[in-house]
Amino acid sequence: RIKLQKYNTVDDAADLLRTAKNVIVLTGAGISTSLGIPDFRSKGTGLYSKLEHLGLSDPQEVFDIRVFNDDPSIFYTIAKDILPSQDRFSPTHRFIRLLQDKGKLLTNYSQNIDNLEARAGIDPAKLVQCHGSFATASCVKCGHKVPGESIFPEVKAGKIPRCRKCALGSRKTANSSRTSLSSSTSSNKNKRKIAKDGTEKKIKRRPGDFDSNSDSEFDVPGDIGSVGVMKPDITFFGEKLPDEFGDRLAEHDRHQVDLCVVIGTSLKVAPVSEVVSFLPPGVPQIYISRTPVGHVNFDIDLLGDCDVVVAELCRRLGWELDHEMVPGD
Ligand code: OAD
Repeated sequence: RIKLQKYNTVDDAADLLRTAKNVIVLTGAGISTSLGIPDFRSKGTGLYSKLEHLGLSDPQEVFDIRVFNDDPSIFYTIAKDILPSQDRFSPTHRFIRLLQDKGKLLTNYSQNIDNLEARAGIDPAKLVQCHGSFATASCVKCGHKVPGESIFPEVKAGKIPRCRKCALGSRKTANSSRTSLSSSTSSNKNKRKIAKDGTEKKIKRRPGDFDSNSDSEFDVPGDIGSVGVMKPDITFFGEKLPDEFGDRLAEHDRHQVDLCVVIGTSLKVAPVSEVVSFLPPGVPQIYISRTPVGHVNFDIDLLGDCDVVVAELCRRLGWELDHEMVPGD
């Protein structure tokens, strides 16, 4: 769309924040990098740069649902490195909380799965985790949902977490047909994997492959083909976003928003990348990031480290950005 250059300075951005009553803040991985959590696409430091050793044609495949269904070990090779582990949050998280405290935050749409918005005290009613989170995990086979943290020990140990509900069912079946399955020994157990259709197929194990199947919980001959894999409820490519995303945006926020602030995202992933163009044309839009984007035309680009930019905005607004605040305060 064509825009009249009505706003373009840092002071304009500060004025917009001062007068706005209903701000949408759209965030990405860039707001957590100052805490040592890598983003996805920054060259050299982003997660996708670090996945070259996996030999995937596209590193994004680690988050592709078809790849996961075919071979969950690819995701679980890296999952332990992206588990939410931080209690701290960045000055930018604190800035979003400040907008909330001042009664200006309409919604924080976050693409992040580190759950740090919650740590910073963003009201769950004002937070949409567009790409889900590690807060829960579900069985890909039977849908059984568990608290995310319950699978963390297995993930950290390099194992593929499996569904306890399926395992219980499978154990009963296995017990009643143990004789017919008795040829399945623990030595060949490790040579099986679950194919897309849920059936087992034999695979060659390579040195360094971790044991997807060693938990004694599931050490029931013949059970593994019927026991689903647990997947954290983060949104993979090929999966639908939580309903809350589209519903809230279209039915609630679109009619109320008077300012949109986009922070620390490359806006490469739809449909979140389309939020900005979905808002009414008169709503001013500010972009804060290290890297400019060419495919979206913002009213104001504030390029740089987002923690520095929000601190400067607060200074000009006379707002105190107390980022030493203890999480949960
Ligand atoms: P990206 O890695 O694509 O973009 C992060 C942006 O933040 C880049 O433009 C960086 O330059 C910028 N950035 C990094 N650190 C910054 C800092 N300290 N201050 C300011 N800017 C900074 O991450 P996202 O846009 O969040 O999806 O990625 C979107 C989605 O792609 C993710 O949710 C994930 C990924 O595939 C799924 O996994 C489904």
